[in-house]
Formats: sequence, C-alpha cells, structure tokens
Amino acid sequence: MVLKVGKGASAPPFLVMDVIAAANARQLALPPGAPHVIRMEVGQPGTGAPAGAVAAAMAALRSGHPLGYTEAFGLRSLRQRIAAHALDWYGLTLPIERIAVTVGASGAFPLAFLAAFDPGDRIAMAAPFYPPYVNILTALGMVPVIMEAGIETRFQPTVAMLEALDPRPDGLIVASPCNPAGTMLHRDELAAIAVWCDRNGVRLISDEIYHGLNYDSPIASAAEFSDSAIVVNSFSKYFSMTGWRIGWLVLPEDLCRPVECLAQNMFISAPYIAQVAAEAAFDCHAELQANIAAYRRSRDHLLAALPAAGFSRLSPAEGAFYLFADISDRSNDSAAFCARMLQEVGVAVSPGVDFDRTRGSRFVRFSYCGPEADMRAAAERLKGWS
Ligand SMILES: Cc1ncc(COP(=O)(O)O)c(C=O)c1O
Repeated sequence: MVLKVGKGASAPPFLVMDVIAAANARQLALPPGAPHVIRMEVGQPGTGAPAGAVAAAMAALRSGHPLGYTEAFGLRSLRQRIAAHALDWYGLTLPIERIAVTVGASGAFPLAFLAAFDPGDRIAMAAPFYPPYVNILTALGMVPVIMEAGIETRFQPTVAMLEALDPRPDGLIVASPCNPAGTMLHRDELAAIAVWCDRNGVRLISDEIYHGLNYDSPIASAAEFSDSAIVVNSFSKYFSMTGWRIGWLVLPEDLCRPVECLAQNMFISAPYIAQVAAEAAFDCHAELQANIAAYRRSRDHLLAALPAAGFSRLSPAEGAFYLFADISDRSNDSAAFCARMLQEVGVAVSPGVDFDRTRGSRFVRFSYCGPEADMRAAAERLKGWS
C-alpha cells in the first residue's frame, strides 16, 4: 500500500545547512596540522550564552525546581523583562499580555502565520530573503509574493514596490537588519511601510532578530508605528543564545488569544530552563556589547580587505553580521564558486541561491560572527585566490 505524503513534505531544504555539512566534512578530511576551515557560512555567533545567563540556568538546575511546563506565553517574569527591554530600547510601553515567549524566532513564525493568514493568502517580501519565510509559508499552503530588491534600495522593500503589487497582498514580511544582505530599513522607511500596511489592510510581520547588531543607524521597531504589526524577536543573535531555542513575539491585541491557543496546542511552552537563562541575559549587556564590538571590527576589516581580494560589489554592511557580495564579475554559479572556495582555500561561505532563487547564483553571503582572527585570516587567504 502506498501511503499519502502531505504537500508540506516537499518543503525545500535550507541549503545553508548543506554548506555547513560540507564544511564539517572538509574539516574532518584535513590532515593533522593543516590550516582549519574558516567558517563564514554559519549565521550563529561564535560566542556562547553570556555568563550571567549560564549561571542562572545552573542555579535553576541545582535548585531542585521541577522545571516543568510554563504558561503557553512563558514565565511572567521573563515577559516583564521583555516589556522593560521594549521600553528601554524603543520607548514602547507594552502590556505583558501582548508578549509571547516562543521556541526561537523559528517557533514564532508558524504561530504568527497561522494566526494571521489562511491557506491561499499572499504574503509579500523582498528578495533576497531568509529562506524559511518562503518555505514555512509554502508548507502552510500560503503563497509567497517576491519583490526583487536591488542595491538601490539596499535590498529592502519600499512603499513604491508595495504599491505596484496587484492584487494587494494579505501580508508583508520585513527584516531589519536583514539576512542575507545585512542592510536596514531606516526609521522613516519602516514607519512609511508600517503606515502603508495599516492603511491597506496588509498584516505586517517584522523580523527584528538582528536588533542590537546595528553599526551605523539606530534601530526602530514596527510596534512603534503600528498596533496591528506582529514583531518577531529572539535571543539567538544579540543575546548569543542560538541553541537555547528561545525567542518572543509582540502581538497585536486581536491575535493574542488565537496565538495563545495555537501555542498551547503546538508547543505547550518554550523550555523552562531557556526562559530562566534568557531572563538573566537582560543583565548581561556589557558582555554582549563586547561581542558586538568584535563584530564591528571584523566588519570594518572585511569591508576594507574583501575588495582587494576581488569582492568589490558588497552590500552596505549596516547590521547583523553578513556581507552580501555580487560576484557576477567572477562567476554566475555561486554554488560551484563556494564549493571551489572551500576546496581550494578552506573558507566556507554561503551561495546566494538559498536567499534569492532567480538572482542568487550571482551572489554569496559572508558571515563575520566567527572569531576575529579567523575573519582576518579568511581575507588573507582570499587575497591570493581567484
Ligand atoms: C532573519 C532570521 N530570522 C529568524 C531566524 C531564526 O532564529 P532562531 O534561532 O531564533 O529560530 C534567523 C536565523 O538565522 C534569521 O536569520
């Protein structure tokens, strides 16, 4: 008997994960003493959770507390800290009823999409984009609408692009700073998009996971401009806690109860221990700022060194820890280009195809969140490579 396989089973892979596997294999195959593979393909901080977060988790483990389920929206004390953070960073006063703790930003996406949209709904986003947006929407029977953005808009969407969509989409996803381009929607641009969405009945989802990793311009939250926007955030990037799998949503009032019901059924709650650690991470800004200072130094070094190594068409590196390079003067097959780079100089970077299915073969993404010495060594290795 042949059993039915659902449409969701055809979700494409997240190819960066395949590049990670190739880099792991290459490292394992190296003879002893050979220079190690430099990891610029991964989008996760090389640092672990801040010391205060680890200490809080250890104390909780030793306390004998059962660390069971929490309320579906998370520990109240953590939600209070998230609200205090919103006041501190954006001047926003949020009732904790609008804050839902989630299993990373990744766990927040299906909750947000299912609460806000129906199968068949059209959700717009600029390309290049973070691939799981498209893959999750598609798995849920929703329809991604891609707006190709270029260097002239810093790879970000604009109101003019939205105006040009016919029919109007049901939703819009933005990310600032974004992955893979590392560019931002500046305050006035985000405000204009949020207002346009409100006026046109388009549900805005703002992925703010890279907030705190902005080097030139201040960040703004979509929740400052719109009461109907959904904000997604996480402890993975600024807070350097990827493996703890913890994030949060700021929800508009009409979606609080629907998301709570979905979260109760889909996750019960985010892990208790990660919630304890996350709460303590809010007291660790000094350590986290030191990480960011290191990213900034790596960014500055690469912005100066990569053009000398033949990567002169770089996105403005405003935030996150990515540089998106147009390599069309060197190759129109970024997957093969990256494979050769890994093979010949032991530097792993991600091909753009994951992030932009039509133009991605002309781009690669460098991630500079690894050790500073590695980032410098990568630039050196690439200088002599063609
Ligand atoms: C733009 C963006 N959103 C969401 C995520 C997922 O983050 P999390 O670890 O919180 O699930 C990532 C991870 O790289 C990302 O780059």
